[in-house]
Amino acid sequence: MAERILVTSALPYANGPIHLGHLAGAYLPADIFVRYHRLKGSDVVYICGSDEHGVPIMLRARKENVNPQEIVDKFHNINKKSFEQFGMSFDYYGRTSSDIHHRTSQDFFRRLHEKNEFIIKSEKQLFDPEAGMFLADRFVQGTCPSCGYEDAYGDQCEKCGISLSPKDLKNPRSMITNAEPVLKETAHWYLPLGSYQPRLQEWINSHSEWKNNVKNQVQSWFTDGLQDRAVTRDLPWGVKIPEDVAREAGIDASGKVLYVWFDAPIGYISATKEWAEKQNQPEAWKHYWQDDDAKLVHFIGKDNIVFHCLIFPAMLMVHGDFIMPDNVPANEFLNLEGRKLSTSRNYAVWLDDYLNNFQPDSLRYVLASNLPESRDTDFSWKDFQARHNNELADILGNFVNRSVTFAHKYFDGSVPALYALDDLDRQVIEQLKQAPEELGKHLENYQFKSYVLRFMDLVRFANKYFNDKEPWKTRKTNPENCATTIHLCMQIVHNLAVLSEPVLPFTANKIRQIINMENKLHWHDAAQLNLKQGHPVNKAEILFDKIEDEAIENESQKLQQALRKSSDSEEEEKQKSEEITIDDVMKLDLRVARITAAEKIKKADKLLKLHLVIGEEERQIIAGIARQYDPQNLVGQKIIVVANLKAAQIRGNRSQGMLLAAADGEQLSLLTVMDDIPSGSKIQ
Ligand code: 2FM
Ligand code: ZN
Repeated sequence: MAERILVTSALPYANGPIHLGHLAGAYLPADIFVRYHRLKGSDVVYICGSDEHGVPIMLRARKENVNPQEIVDKFHNINKKSFEQFGMSFDYYGRTSSDIHHRTSQDFFRRLHEKNEFIIKSEKQLFDPEAGMFLADRFVQGTCPSCGYEDAYGDQCEKCGISLSPKDLKNPRSMITNAEPVLKETAHWYLPLGSYQPRLQEWINSHSEWKNNVKNQVQSWFTDGLQDRAVTRDLPWGVKIPEDVAREAGIDASGKVLYVWFDAPIGYISATKEWAEKQNQPEAWKHYWQDDDAKLVHFIGKDNIVFHCLIFPAMLMVHGDFIMPDNVPANEFLNLEGRKLSTSRNYAVWLDDYLNNFQPDSLRYVLASNLPESRDTDFSWKDFQARHNNELADILGNFVNRSVTFAHKYFDGSVPALYALDDLDRQVIEQLKQAPEELGKHLENYQFKSYVLRFMDLVRFANKYFNDKEPWKTRKTNPENCATTIHLCMQIVHNLAVLSEPVLPFTANKIRQIINMENKLHWHDAAQLNLKQGHPVNKAEILFDKIEDEAIENESQKLQQALRKSSDSEEEEKQKSEEITIDDVMKLDLRVARITAAEKIKKADKLLKLHLVIGEEERQIIAGIARQYDPQNLVGQKIIVVANLKAAQIRGNRSQGMLLAAADGEQLSLLTVMDDIPSGSKIQ
């Protein structure tokens, strides 16, 4: 019987476009897996959609002065379209603002409430008195208690990665008004994850086949001990808490919503329901969520491990009606030209931008060859160019092109006959026979890089076969041998269309068109010779144009520019953060001083030694004003000095304070007082 699999990719937040890091983590591997399973005849449904709640969306809406709905509408459409253009073959791309989703999440929450799974806690939380709202998650920033990073968020420190709650932050400040938050009582629903730990551990231990990076992270959560997690928030944007549940609990639910990480994974279920409705089989979703024969596989990036391996499974487990995930093949992170990707600094390659300049399969191939399956990997434009030019164009494109062109030129555009086989021919047939099984094994085991490597090895082998058989010579010396070579090459071309489909779907289609075999083969049929002698073949077309240096240079420059801009704005930020408060001003003891004597300092042509009195007190100050002022003109003048500056030695002279002057380049003018006010007067 065909395997039944529900595959999900993390629902991306609809508050920005998709970038390469997303693709390498949760999307491309899933699409490769799904395409393979479809070819293999599995009963697979592939679900994704927009995650449209959560604080980052609200923050972006505030920044742009629009309603959050406008933000999510915009990015839902942008992302859906660029995913399509990239060849992501979702069966359904939903969104968590849909009615079905809101209802499904509320029903889920209600069920947990009915089963008494929640703990309700009333406690003081950070509240912005100016904005009149609680500061959940990223609505508050402050100093990380763990590493001291000053801009840590209320839910996480991006510097050291630690999970936080707003109250953990030192010196918290509101992201809305910059006000210092106060503490205010509020009630929330918590999942007692700690009490589920033994059951979760038992379940995870039954999956020794999971990837090590995933198991290790989960283990470290267990070692720290799972804590109660709040699954509601005081926010105006999200799935409302069901009123009946709130009433029973005696809590005023107005202004409260489900935590985004409670409702988002339920989005997989709601999107499957919407998919089923679209199929006119409204109950069909249950075959994938409520039937023990089905397998649930979540593709995610490593930052989502805790939610998909512990929190959502705990929710599914205590709910009781759903199957548990069969695997969560999370990937590590993809870096970019040796640095961490940063969306806030625009240091990323955006999918929509990429697609304006290059073809989707090139990126699919290059990313798949370099997926962060067990550790972080790096994407560089130079590597992208090299792999496209040297592998896709020179190996795959070349093999298809030379085989089809030969069939056209010398065999009337059709597949020639197969005659007696020699050793090399037999090797080809053997390689083809093994390829689907071997490549399929890598794909079944979530080893997408190995699949891509082995696939390209097969094409290399095919090119070598063409070279070794020298059909351009045998055409004259041994026509039957030449026909056999081209016959087998055409069979390889056809089978490559099947075997490349998971990673290179657009190319696979093109190949099928070229060889007039538009119906897709079953994966395992790629083990056989499928083309009939005399089958007509279309003219070859170039599958991959070479990518020129200039195009790569442009892309590198975009990244350089992003780096420059972000370091400029960091500088601006620094200057902004150097703004002082009135308390800082009050620290300065500014006084009127009268100059009693002034003289030049030997071998220091910029400096003057000034003697002055501040009220009764005599002082000496060394000042860099010799170029602008003649000492004798200064005596008797009243100037302004910082009287409480710590004394210093300047060129061997004691300086007890600092005078104030306005400066514009070399031009300089000492500050003074307009009226005759005694020396020692305080500036205020
Ligand atoms: O990290 C993210 O981008 C989340 N929006 C992923 C959500 S996955 C799922 F739970 F919906
Ligand atoms: Zn930190």
